[in-house]
Amino acid sequence: PPRLVLTPHDSITPSPGPVLVCILDGWGENKNKDEFNAVHSADTPCMDALAEKAPDRYRTVQAHGVAVGLPTNADMGNSEVGHNALGSGQVVDQGARLVDIALETGSMFESDGWRLVAQAFEDRTVHLIGLLSDGGVHSRADQVYKLLRGAAERGAKRIRMHILTDGRDVPDGSSVGFVQQLEGELSGLARDHGVDGKIASGGGRMYVTMDRYEADWGIVKRGWDAHVLGRAPNRFKDAVEAVKTLKGEGASAKSDQWLEPFVIVDEEGSPVGTIEDGDAVVLFNFRADRMVEISKAFEYEEFAAFDRERFPSGLRFVGMMQYDGDLKLPTNYLVPPPLINRVSGQYLVQNGIKTFACSETQKFGHVTFFWNGNRSGYFDEELETYVEIPSDNVPFNQAPDMKAREICEAGKEAMFSGRYQMVRVNFANPDMVGHTGDLQATMRACALVDKCVQELLDVCDEVNGRWLVTADHGNADDMVQRKKTGEALYHGDVPLPLTSHTLAPVPVAVGGKGLPEGVRFRQDLPKAGLANITGTYINLLGFAVPDFYEPSLIENVQEGK
Ligand code: 3PG
Ligand code: CO
Repeated sequence: PPRLVLTPHDSITPSPGPVLVCILDGWGENKNKDEFNAVHSADTPCMDALAEKAPDRYRTVQAHGVAVGLPTNADMGNSEVGHNALGSGQVVDQGARLVDIALETGSMFESDGWRLVAQAFEDRTVHLIGLLSDGGVHSRADQVYKLLRGAAERGAKRIRMHILTDGRDVPDGSSVGFVQQLEGELSGLARDHGVDGKIASGGGRMYVTMDRYEADWGIVKRGWDAHVLGRAPNRFKDAVEAVKTLKGEGASAKSDQWLEPFVIVDEEGSPVGTIEDGDAVVLFNFRADRMVEISKAFEYEEFAAFDRERFPSGLRFVGMMQYDGDLKLPTNYLVPPPLINRVSGQYLVQNGIKTFACSETQKFGHVTFFWNGNRSGYFDEELETYVEIPSDNVPFNQAPDMKAREICEAGKEAMFSGRYQMVRVNFANPDMVGHTGDLQATMRACALVDKCVQELLDVCDEVNGRWLVTADHGNADDMVQRKKTGEALYHGDVPLPLTSHTLAPVPVAVGGKGLPEGVRFRQDLPKAGLANITGTYINLLGFAVPDFYEPSLIENVQEGK
């Protein structure tokens, strides 16, 4: 018998066809509706028509800040926390907040992971690797500085920093400032604690170390070569100079995201911070997706993804968090990850509901791993089918269509097959193209996704299904950096691109041929967030919402119809 029982809804009957959940990654409903809002500027007849159905069958929900478990409402949403909420119906404290708490209470420095790192303080080097910015999506610089101070105060003598430049969750060009800030912190540690601290290597986050979902292991290899072996095509004596030079200037300037790998060398030309036997290595990102591959490279004795050439022995290797609870990866960590239990996927399989999930590589883990509360693999392979469409390995403004058509076809086929009661797809385009800062390409991305959504809704109607269209956070809805007043910022005549997510709420639309006429959005949940969507699709399937989930957004005002 199932442990997690779903009971029938008292007025919404089981769906006569599949329930389709469509996630438009990075599609916010932004109050700024000028030319820089790619969602608004693009031709999007499908989503426009859905919006006309407000308030009964269209509304927005919160997708950022405390509504999704982030420390403050200044924190933009992201796919990890967004998909966690969408899949679990719960608002849980997320990595960013858990690390804040562990630093505030000092529990970080009492963890087993920390004790392991501390073994290297006396006569080895402590290496910190991660994304250097205050984006708050994967990491936060202020946490890194507290970690550094914590190490220095507790006796670390030699520290080496391996930094990935951002320009994606924060404005492009901000990396030089973060590197200078870090240099300042390291000088402070030298002055106050006599620590020998240096930046040793780095590179752009999209080109070095931070690959995800095995899209391109070459990215991780570049990181390994620079951080561990001290080998990179670019060698500098100084990290600020490295970042400035690799970035270049003017029209040919590289974005911070894509900087080539570099290694810092001493007067004799030797790398200042290779990773050696017995050293401690701390990955300081709290978010999982882009840390899993590098973690495997550090942790696994047997490893075939690329040739590591040298595998240091006796490393004291820890993650800021455990990035994958199923793989127990890494074994050692500083902060326990958020516990997300009783997620919708568990309910569905225990109640015999067959599910199909699909996205392309860049978002595949979002709609499976994050959706399932940070669990890899299936809950029940008999009942679930997950399809990954391989993503291209290019900057996505060069191929803004990405794999939207293929995902759309897979979704249609799944609905036509009659095999699934629940079909969920994620379209990566508005987010991945939005992150390039390219307005035109992002508009194209939005227009195509809008078309694909229309096709999916048409098929869903054809098979008498019910659908829910939503997004995980904003991104494409604002493509320009702005003054506090909302005015766009320019460099000369060139608008300054915004590559990051936004604080915008996201749309939610429900409908479908198979949906009883009386079903509409409740009007008493104005502050609802992404976690309220889980109960909503559980209702669409014809079940009542489990008690401890956030309430559903819908009700049936014409019982029995
Ligand atoms: C990334 O990892 O690409 C960005 O930092 C966040 O994007 P996502 O949360 O949409 O994946
Ligand atoms: Co994104």
